[in-house]
Amino acid sequence: MSRIIHLSGEYLPSNEARIDVDDRGFLFGDGVYEAMRALDGTLIEGDAHLLRLQRGLAGLEFQLHPAVDSAALSSTCLRLLELNDLKEGHALVYLQVTRGVAQRSHHFPNDPVQPTVYASTTRFTPPRELQENGAAAITQQDQRWKRCDLKTINLLPNVLAKQHAREAGAIEAILLRDRVVTEGSHTNVFAVLGGVVRTHPRTAEILHGVTREVVLSLAGAAGLPVEERAIDALELPLAEEVFLTGTTTDLIPITRIDGRQVGSGRPGPFARMLLERYLALMRDAAPFPQVLVRSR
Ligand code: PDD
Repeated sequence: MSRIIHLSGEYLPSNEARIDVDDRGFLFGDGVYEAMRALDGTLIEGDAHLLRLQRGLAGLEFQLHPAVDSAALSSTCLRLLELNDLKEGHALVYLQVTRGVAQRSHHFPNDPVQPTVYASTTRFTPPRELQENGAAAITQQDQRWKRCDLKTINLLPNVLAKQHAREAGAIEAILLRDRVVTEGSHTNVFAVLGGVVRTHPRTAEILHGVTREVVLSLAGAAGLPVEERAIDALELPLAEEVFLTGTTTDLIPITRIDGRQVGSGRPGPFARMLLERYLALMRDAAPFPQVLVRSR
């Protein structure tokens, strides 16, 4: 049976959905997206994801439209979980909004057009083996633009970086702007240095990861010293631990970088404790602590 997706107001089998060739998402990558987890029919940190989507729409200067109202998008996602029989267990929810359909020209359409909204759900298997045993990563230069805080569908540098990691037998590419560790191709990067949990600060150079915020708050609550300060590539070989966070990752310890062992070569105590607490929070399916909506 084909899965049911949502496309601009309609629920229909994915193989019947059609995107207009003049859609600005297709032509220009003119849109934003979110990837969310659901557990037993509840969106994990749904509000934080939808808030980030709204910030992305504002960042791309989208006009306000009822089709992209957060409450409407949230009910669409929940309805899809129901329609696809995903109200139990782990699921991944994908949500994408593009500027809509208009004759091709770089500038925004002259007359307001309805944004294209696409949402889909799939069953998800958490990467438990990697979480338990750790995994390898590579480093590579960060070739992206200067607004990485916007979760746009322009993902070519991320796609290339992840492909290079795969070809090297690694699960992720840790991106470097010159020598500064920014983030991974689809994850945020943490290191433990001198007993301090460090990660890049919330600037335009990184995506402000929802999982990153939760893990930072868990580290703080556990009494671990935490610092949002960029990690220099030269510090990586000195790190006691390195780990990644993200919606499809939860938290995965990195035990090798560019073929070199990190710390003991096994998942470290901080990563193991934070993973355990993170999974417990998710299992409770209770709302995560309200640390996510930090105003700037
Ligand atoms: N990616 N950094 C980048 C560049 C990302 O694309 C992602 C998420 C993250 C982690 O953010 P969060 O914790 O909010 O998922 C960091 C999603 C999973 C994706 O592209 O599918």
